[in-house]
Amino acid sequence: MENQKNSKLKALLGWVDARFPLTKMYNEHVGQYYAPKNFNFWYFFGSLALLVLVIQIVSGIFLTMNFKPDGTTNAQNLPVAFAAVEYIMRDVSGGWIIRYMHSTGASFFFIVVYLHMFRGLIYGSYKKPRELVWVFGSLIFLALMAEAFMGYLLPWGQMSFWGAQVIINLFGAIPVIGPDLSTWIRGDFNVSDATLNRFFALHVIAVPLVLIGLVVAHLIALHEVGSNNPDGVEIKKLKDENGIPLDGIPFHPYYTVKDILAAVVFLIVFCSVMFFAPEGGGYFLEKPNFDPANPLVTPPHIAPVWYFTPFYAILRAIPSFAGTQVWGVIGMGAAVILIALLPWLDRSPTKSVRYRGPVFKFMLVLFIISFIGLGILGAMVANDVRTWVARGLSVVYFAFFLLMPVYTKLDKDKPVPERVTMGTTKQKIQFFVYVIITFIGAYLFATNI
Ligand code: HEM
Repeated sequence: MENQKNSKLKALLGWVDARFPLTKMYNEHVGQYYAPKNFNFWYFFGSLALLVLVIQIVSGIFLTMNFKPDGTTNAQNLPVAFAAVEYIMRDVSGGWIIRYMHSTGASFFFIVVYLHMFRGLIYGSYKKPRELVWVFGSLIFLALMAEAFMGYLLPWGQMSFWGAQVIINLFGAIPVIGPDLSTWIRGDFNVSDATLNRFFALHVIAVPLVLIGLVVAHLIALHEVGSNNPDGVEIKKLKDENGIPLDGIPFHPYYTVKDILAAVVFLIVFCSVMFFAPEGGGYFLEKPNFDPANPLVTPPHIAPVWYFTPFYAILRAIPSFAGTQVWGVIGMGAAVILIALLPWLDRSPTKSVRYRGPVFKFMLVLFIISFIGLGILGAMVANDVRTWVARGLSVVYFAFFLLMPVYTKLDKDKPVPERVTMGTTKQKIQFFVYVIITFIGAYLFATNI
């Protein structure tokens, strides 16, 4: 009986394979995709980013079924879009869970993607032959920022409205075409119903399509050249007689199992936030956004959501010259573009931070401090001292990238081993201790809210 079933399944698969390369694709990307055997903690975040992408698309579809992108007011004098979110939260069965899944998902997307990018930075995964993997990644990052920005306008709260107003007005700083460009983006002279409608269209279909296309290109490019690893050793250089890399293991079952473990731990943390702290202390959902948009009342402190704050701090740190903010806008744009140019800024032959020289390590620490510091400052009300600190940190941020061609060339790197290395017992114990601390921390957090 069992044998009969198996042979029927095989026949069906053969029928499909004769018409569509299903088995071939499965083998190329999963069953016979040989990944380095020394992946560590930092390699969880690519598959987690895929998981969050799916969470966002699925929760987004259900939100769209009940949301109305309408900036006009209803009989209770509330904007229809704002009231639609309240309706989802209070009246739609399971609506609150779908909404919190999507809003928490937005912040977790950035947490996961920032950690994923950081892994690429420390292990030199952007270097030859993975430049295109990195460039597609950088385009994903841009699309993700656009997606989050446009999604934030939709609930039509005070911060939605004023955040969009501030950011769209920035385009007005561009010489000659600026003012017309910002009117064109808004579709009106002010952020209005027309803006809400077009942002809705872009947020639910146009940008997600681009994002999915870019993620597919990202993975095709990665699988063409193969994954990097924490040692930055190219495993394709040493193969056995069957052409299989000596330091490679098949993605399935070895990394599918590892990624499932990561997904379970991730979902525990994600659900803890979604159920117990969906506002994320006012960082995931900002307090003024619980008030309906009011074009006549500006909130006292307009701050973008936390994931934009490092770039926003750079924008605010650059003073206006001759009454134009254009340099701040250029600075903010350059801060993002420089990330995409990393493959050409880094001149060192060594990939992994494990074997890099002291100058790179020093600059990396400075960069981490500047990025986190700018992120914190960008969320705060600006004053003289904070503006000067933000200026100093912006200089460090740009120095990390712009001086890179020089210091990576002069640095004294260590020799890179021929083969990948596995963690020492000490490293494994350390990792175990981190995991235990994380669990205890999460438990204390969840039981004390
Ligand atoms: C929606 C967002 C993204 C998704 C779903 C995604 C997905 C993935 C996956 C599944 C992998 C293979 C597993 C891994 O190495 O962790 C990967 C690798 C990689 N990603 Fe992404 N990614 C995203 C965004 C980005 C961004 C923004 C960047 C950088 C700007 C980036 C740079 C890289 C690099 C360099 C690798 C190869 C890493 C290595 O082999 O060491 N990715 N990505």
